[in-house]
Amino acid sequence: MKKNKIFVACDSTNISKIKKIIKYTTHTKINIGYKFGLEFLNSKNGRNFVSKLKKRIIFADLKLHDIPNTCVSAIKAIKDLKVNYLTIHISSGLQALKAAKKISGSIRLVGVSVLTSLDNKELKEIGFNKDVKKLVLHQARLAKKARLDAFVCSAQEVKIVKKAFKNEIITPGIRLDTKNNDQKRVLTPKQAFKNGAHSLVIGRNITKGNIKRNIQKLIDHLNQ
Ligand code: C5P
Repeated sequence: MKKNKIFVACDSTNISKIKKIIKYTTHTKINIGYKFGLEFLNSKNGRNFVSKLKKRIIFADLKLHDIPNTCVSAIKAIKDLKVNYLTIHISSGLQALKAAKKISGSIRLVGVSVLTSLDNKELKEIGFNKDVKKLVLHQARLAKKARLDAFVCSAQEVKIVKKAFKNEIITPGIRLDTKNNDQKRVLTPKQAFKNGAHSLVIGRNITKGNIKRNIQKLIDHLNQ
């Protein structure tokens, strides 16, 4: 179990809450990393907090989605944070992905495919005609072309993605219960690992309510 990673999505603007999340999720039997996204990194003290965080796997979920020049400049601007992972939307285009990869150095550059909050109906709504699985596979091929280090998709697409993309596969949209919130393409942690995901992103199922109890529930689920 230790070889697989779980990134805890630290989605809050409250520093004490984030400290609590880190305190209750370390030294467990799971290999844990911390994902800081738009909410925390844009908060007043968020960036500063991350800059001081030592000896943790840090995942900056910036979800860059811009022209090549801006993506490159944003990566340069975040380099002082010494993060381990950084996300960019595959739909930024192949040129942006290649340029970002060229500048990212030791940061693992993660391509984000179709968000796990979208289903076929919503994809159509925003003008995509391919179904989710086909689009994700298409984007996995682009990620391979751009030599990205990791790829984000839902756990439902991992088996297909593995045929095209051989590096790390990271899956959000993970649920231990039937409460999906805003997520559409979900699976349980066990199903995700069984399908071949290397790392999972879990937010609310860990961070909402009793964190200690949630972590124990997750360990029990993975050991079942
Ligand atoms: O609370 P929950 O487990 O749904 O949180 C999922 C986390 O993963 C959020 O921080 C969200 O921004 C992120 N994410 C996602 N779907 C993607 C990429 C990232 O849910 N495709």
